[in-house]
Amino acid sequence: MRIDLVSIFPDYFGPLDLSLAGKARAAGLLEVTTHDLRSWTRDRHHTVDDTPYGGGAGMVMKPEPWGAALDALAPPGADQPRLLVMTPSGRRFDQRLAEELAAEPWLVFACGRYEGIDQRVVDDAAQRMRVDEVSIGDYVLNGGEVAALVVIEAVVRLLPGFMGNPESLREESHATGAGGGLLEYPVYTKPPQWRGRSVPDVLLSGHHGNVARWRRDQAIRRTAQRRPDLIAGQDPGDWDRHDQQVLEAWRAEEAGD
Ligand code: 6GU
Repeated sequence: MRIDLVSIFPDYFGPLDLSLAGKARAAGLLEVTTHDLRSWTRDRHHTVDDTPYGGGAGMVMKPEPWGAALDALAPPGADQPRLLVMTPSGRRFDQRLAEELAAEPWLVFACGRYEGIDQRVVDDAAQRMRVDEVSIGDYVLNGGEVAALVVIEAVVRLLPGFMGNPESLREESHATGAGGGLLEYPVYTKPPQWRGRSVPDVLLSGHHGNVARWRRDQAIRRTAQRRPDLIAGQDPGDWDRHDQQVLEAWRAEEAGD
């Protein structure tokens, strides 16, 4: 996969040289290039922002440097990337989108600052490439750089050949596919006693069926408690009677307290 990052703070992407993405780059699975948006400005002051038409607080990123940057990275008529414009007003990033992006050969991230990028940049780019405006959650960051790092970390670990044990992708929180969409169960390791707290007996029992059942029960209870929205989104085809009973028991406990 090829990734280009465009920002007025390319130094934000230093972490991409470390562990995760660094490993993928060393393995030849990933090629990352960072670009300074100001290199596509033409005035002496390398201006990238201006006041908003219609008034209001803050500044808006000017269209010309962004247009020049995208034309340089992906000349019209040549192969086109998928463009991700990072903005708190975008579609919310999730594991499903991470999986979709992991299948792309080439991603370009446009990291905006200030009150955002002139909308015509997005509309113009969408004439020749797939464009998504993407947010990583319902809170506001000062710029899209950290959000792009989040998306890249989620995507790169899904690249075929990246994970040592791809099985670990299947059970984790937010895994998609059959049995997915629940938060992960609690995990324990040695020692069996620590500060007066024991590891649940079932995990030491060696009974794989009981362990699997306990883990699924815990995943259901934890999801009901922390993320009721995910329970609402479960595929009823994935739920047997026992699952339903675990959920009902949890609800009765909650109502009783
Ligand atoms: Cl992508 N950008 C900014 N500035 N804030 C955000 C965000 C992105 N996602 C959530 N908050």
